[in-house]
Amino acid sequence: MQKDYAVTQKLIHWLMGIFIMLDLFIAQKFGNFMGDPDGFIAYYNETRFASRVDHATMGYILTTLFVLRIYFRRRHGGAELPAEMPGWQVTAANLGHWGLYGLMAALFATGIITASAASQPIVIFGAFDVAFGTSDEAFFQSVRQLHELCTNLIIALIVVHVAAALYHQFIAKDRTTRRMLVFWKRTQA
Ligand code: HEM
Repeated sequence: MQKDYAVTQKLIHWLMGIFIMLDLFIAQKFGNFMGDPDGFIAYYNETRFASRVDHATMGYILTTLFVLRIYFRRRHGGAELPAEMPGWQVTAANLGHWGLYGLMAALFATGIITASAASQPIVIFGAFDVAFGTSDEAFFQSVRQLHELCTNLIIALIVVHVAAALYHQFIAKDRTTRRMLVFWKRTQA
């Protein structure tokens, strides 16, 4: 039997997938005026301000899941790829996974830094103000743009990731995808 992911790793994978979609959905409520001065937003754009709190709360939950994911990956390792998989697919799979990890880390880091420089408190879980840094309009805007770039890059990589999962499930039929889908029974590759 080939090495599988631990059940905890599968749970974290799916939770993160769902929460990233939800956080993206919340970010849609920011509207189309992202370049507006941050200092004025609290006064004329209440929806965006409230969404910012929801978005950052979900973002911090995702960051916690990401740290747990790295911990379990280091402790348990990853599932083995099927032995018959062509070399170029092995390289693409490794690049894709490291790309996703790198982009997630960059997305969370730029989100946390953007929030830290906001001009108004962003109180997550109704308790912690994550606008803990010095308010700085220019810094806020430039890191927010990096955050947006990371968002666009990760969306592109998630599309490729889903396409690869569908390919393995329905065309190659090699059980690569099944190992993330089947929770309680360890599957052979
Ligand atoms: C700890 C994690 C995160 C924090 C603290 C955070 C915080 C923020 C903040 C403060 C803004 C600016 C909001 C505004 O200007 O009103 C923002 C924008 C945005 N965030 Fe996040 N974020 C996080 C994670 C994420 C994740 C996981 C995604 C994608 C799934 C994401 C997608 C976006 C998008 C699309 C925008 C709008 C960017 C733009 O158009 O400039 N963020 N985020």
